Amino acid sequence: MAFDIDMIKGVYARMKERVDAARDIVGKPLTLSEKILYNHLWDGMPTKSFIRGKDYVDFAPDRIACQDATAQMALLQFMQAGKSKVAVPTTVHCDHLIQAKEGAAADLKHANNTSSEVFNFLESVSNKYGIGFWKPGAGIIHQVVLENYAFPGGMMIGTDSHTVNAGGLGMVAIGVGGADAVDVMAGMAWELKFPKLIGVKLTGKLSGWTAPKDVILKVAEILTVKGGTGAIVEYFGPGAIAMSCTGKGTICNMGAEIGATTSTFGYDDSMERYLRATDRADIADAANTVKAYLTADEDVYKNPEQYFDQVIEINLSELMPLLNGPFTPDLSTPVGSEMTGKAKENDWPIKVEWGLIGSCTNSSYEDLSRASSIAQQALDKGLKTKAEFGINPGSEMVRYTTQRDGILEVFEKLDATIFTNACGPCIGQWARYSDPKNAPKNSIVHSFNRNFAKRADGNPNTHAFVASPEITAAIAIAGRLDFNPLKDKLINENGEEVMLDEPTGWELPPKGFDVKDNGYIEPEADGSHVNVAVKPDSERLQLLEPFVPIGDSITGARLLIKAFGKCTTDHISMAGPWLRFRGHLDNIANNTLIGAVNAFNKQTNFVKNQLTSEYGGVPDVQRAYKAAGIKTVVVGDHNYGEGSSREHAAMQPRHLGVAAVIVKSFARIHETNLKKQGMLGLTFANETDYDLIQEDDIFNFLDLNEFAPDKPLTVEVVHADGSSNIIKLNHTYNDAQIAWYKEGSALNLIKKQNA
Ligand code: F3S
Repeated sequence: MAFDIDMIKGVYARMKERVDAARDIVGKPLTLSEKILYNHLWDGMPTKSFIRGKDYVDFAPDRIACQDATAQMALLQFMQAGKSKVAVPTTVHCDHLIQAKEGAAADLKHANNTSSEVFNFLESVSNKYGIGFWKPGAGIIHQVVLENYAFPGGMMIGTDSHTVNAGGLGMVAIGVGGADAVDVMAGMAWELKFPKLIGVKLTGKLSGWTAPKDVILKVAEILTVKGGTGAIVEYFGPGAIAMSCTGKGTICNMGAEIGATTSTFGYDDSMERYLRATDRADIADAANTVKAYLTADEDVYKNPEQYFDQVIEINLSELMPLLNGPFTPDLSTPVGSEMTGKAKENDWPIKVEWGLIGSCTNSSYEDLSRASSIAQQALDKGLKTKAEFGINPGSEMVRYTTQRDGILEVFEKLDATIFTNACGPCIGQWARYSDPKNAPKNSIVHSFNRNFAKRADGNPNTHAFVASPEITAAIAIAGRLDFNPLKDKLINENGEEVMLDEPTGWELPPKGFDVKDNGYIEPEADGSHVNVAVKPDSERLQLLEPFVPIGDSITGARLLIKAFGKCTTDHISMAGPWLRFRGHLDNIANNTLIGAVNAFNKQTNFVKNQLTSEYGGVPDVQRAYKAAGIKTVVVGDHNYGEGSSREHAAMQPRHLGVAAVIVKSFARIHETNLKKQGMLGLTFANETDYDLIQEDDIFNFLDLNEFAPDKPLTVEVVHADGSSNIIKLNHTYNDAQIAWYKEGSALNLIKKQNA
């Protein structure tokens, strides 16, 4: 069963009544985002209007999707909840654990050998608890979800930040930590702070070299990596309607890079075409019966300033192709000569060594066909590509269809490596170097979404730039970062000057999609007899023990690390080689915060052990505090925990004995994850208090026994010279979240309630 049409019809059947009621209560026309949110209230009929950016609201999502790296911990947690089946349709997708090296066939075989224990575990848990299983090689979670499960007006959550990709098909789809997914799998409500709304009006029309990717690269430039925090971005306007459904998916996908809760588009013809092309005509027919409810009310897009908290307008006819990076996805440069100066000024290598096309962001049929039209020109015009090409098709259906239609063959003729239908280089699963730490400085261009240091290949000296698939192809052919395909000529093998023509391609395959084995395994109707085995000596999997509550007294806590600057979930719980331990909490805890920069010596993984005055790795020092029965505190800067949704970034410090994380500001998912694991996630009431924190500080919480919503906590920070500061710490815990803290974790509370 690929999708549940009865469930979708149910969502549409209740839509009119609930949305009409919400409109009356809110007292004005509704945006699409509000319609979807109010139609998915846990309590059913709307009875009150929610304050955006303030009220916590319980929702009832329609679906859950998990990828293999995060699913391990999510399912290990779900197994503790005492349920026989998941309460909401759920799928697991094996895409993160496949390393890209030689090419699809060899790499998939290698992954099946090295990770069989994990894949078997996920398959058996899925079979037991009624979860749809997509085996390794079936595709990247978000492409598979868009092809099979996303539907206009739906709400889903997924244990991956780029779950937001499904907004391309008109969903409100949100990336969450595994702990949130476990709540919903266990039949509980899912809580979210009612988001603010950002409207993006797209006028004009994309043409020539400009692609949907450039829209989101532009939005990232405007809003920066923090600008979307706590908000749903709703796109509208003629430029939105004229765009393909998968192009909309690309834009929504990278909403994660601006910190947005999610992004979405109103239902239109492109979505209907995509639904029909992916064998879901019955969803399109059902959606057509509630069309007016699958987009905003009429006045909203005419007078957006009255309905959105912020409005941005972009004229697609004037938009230029962009190259964002390196090291952050919001640093935009238009293709061409501006890059020449910038690269020189910043010492970015101008020579490009790899062009990578794929990832969940840009691996659709349209993406590959447009990029291949550029690649074909290299063959036709006698150009020798200067950089290497790597391609990751998004799903087996895309791979099969692009192979059938000769699209992959074009890349193969350019000696491209066709990697598995999986994440690969997008998540550090790229065996590019034998010793990445000491690998040379270089530049690469890719059509992925993230470009933090080390993200693709583990090499801190790789400068990764994000671009559309067609620009990635053109730059890989030219081999220069500052190549402008609109203006620049290239010299072919005959010494002639040639130019690349504008890309062409197909929104959808002219001969339709096809696939032999899509890689899906349906769970048994009754999986109660299925045995899920975890070996006690396994390196990769470890059954969980409940966390012990931290309690209402924290005194004498030591500073573990004061993190300086950017501290993403990659810094807190690195991916790459550590992905193999995602199901084993104690083993993966050995990477805790090893990427964070210590503010006192600007080094990574080198912090002072206050008990010995010696310096050591963060996990080792933390284990020493734990052995001595001493609680610790982590201090951080702005947007702490941005990046992925992995709850490991909260569970690992929790497992090792960190009691509180105190920062200038949090990324939303990480803050929630800390709360779920029964930890304190706090923010400085006065940001400059960050500067007061010294290396030998001791923290005494003075009023934790009065922990209550909207009431700041007070902490005494005692310095080595005996002086001290009293500082105020804000928090966003509501009553329910304080109950999680008191029980030791949200899961402890679920178990207690199920008992
Ligand atoms: Fe995978 Fe990269 Fe997307 S890790 S899910 S392809 S962001």
